[in-house]
Amino acid sequence: MPKIRITKFKQMKQKGDKISMITAYDTATAELVDSAGIDSVLVGDSLGNVIQGLENTLSVSLEEMIYHTKIVSRGIKNAHLAADMPFLSYQVSVESAINNAGRLLKEGNAESVKLEVNEEYIDTVYALNKASIPVIAHIGLCPQSVHVTGGYLVQGRKKNDAEHLLQLAHLAEDAGAFLIVLESIPGVLAEKITLSLAIPTIGIGAGNRCDGQVLVFNDMAGLSPDPLPKFVNKFAEGRKIFIKATEKYIEQVKNQKFPSKKNSYE
Ligand code: KIV
Repeated sequence: MPKIRITKFKQMKQKGDKISMITAYDTATAELVDSAGIDSVLVGDSLGNVIQGLENTLSVSLEEMIYHTKIVSRGIKNAHLAADMPFLSYQVSVESAINNAGRLLKEGNAESVKLEVNEEYIDTVYALNKASIPVIAHIGLCPQSVHVTGGYLVQGRKKNDAEHLLQLAHLAEDAGAFLIVLESIPGVLAEKITLSLAIPTIGIGAGNRCDGQVLVFNDMAGLSPDPLPKFVNKFAEGRKIFIKATEKYIEQVKNQKFPSKKNSYE
């Protein structure tokens, strides 16, 4: 399979081929999802919740994002590699956003960056694009704004909010974003946005009419503890499989069945 470049995503939309995206935070997982044929790997700032055991994504640092992006890049041969810009790495000024996004590309080997966008950051999307840094705009539920929104709530349910999100998606497209992530919005709104844009939309909790879908790897693989958001589907019972394996290992260590002869040197 050839390396996926960002131009491929628009072609996929035009052909009606759906785009698959998944998060990864380390080389081993990246190698696994790339081997499975995923189109795009996102080093999400969800690493705060998933890997660092934090309550939200706000304290994930740029250095941590660079480190995880670099190790994920070592596991990828074909998929497109995107990295999240963490909280306050693009909100302070356009200039610092370019420097910080540039570090994710130069030091982390990312091929694009994702930022949670509202009207305030459209200029930043434009400037990053001008600086040859491809941008994914994330709209709808924006976890970095959790203290403003008051929780992880479905967005765009009211008519005004829905119109606002549709407008925002167009502003992001006009500013040069090549993908739009739609998080936790009603399916009908996601469909409307998807049909009205030339660039693809990637949904998470946004129904099945988007041009693609993204999930957090640990949620998709059933590794995350319950409760999980309604939009998650567990495609495997990872926790059960690995807990069972660990229980067996413990048992065989205790009763000296492991290591057996075949695991031992003569
Ligand atoms: O941080 C993240 O993993 C994300 C995706 C879930 C879209 O933003």
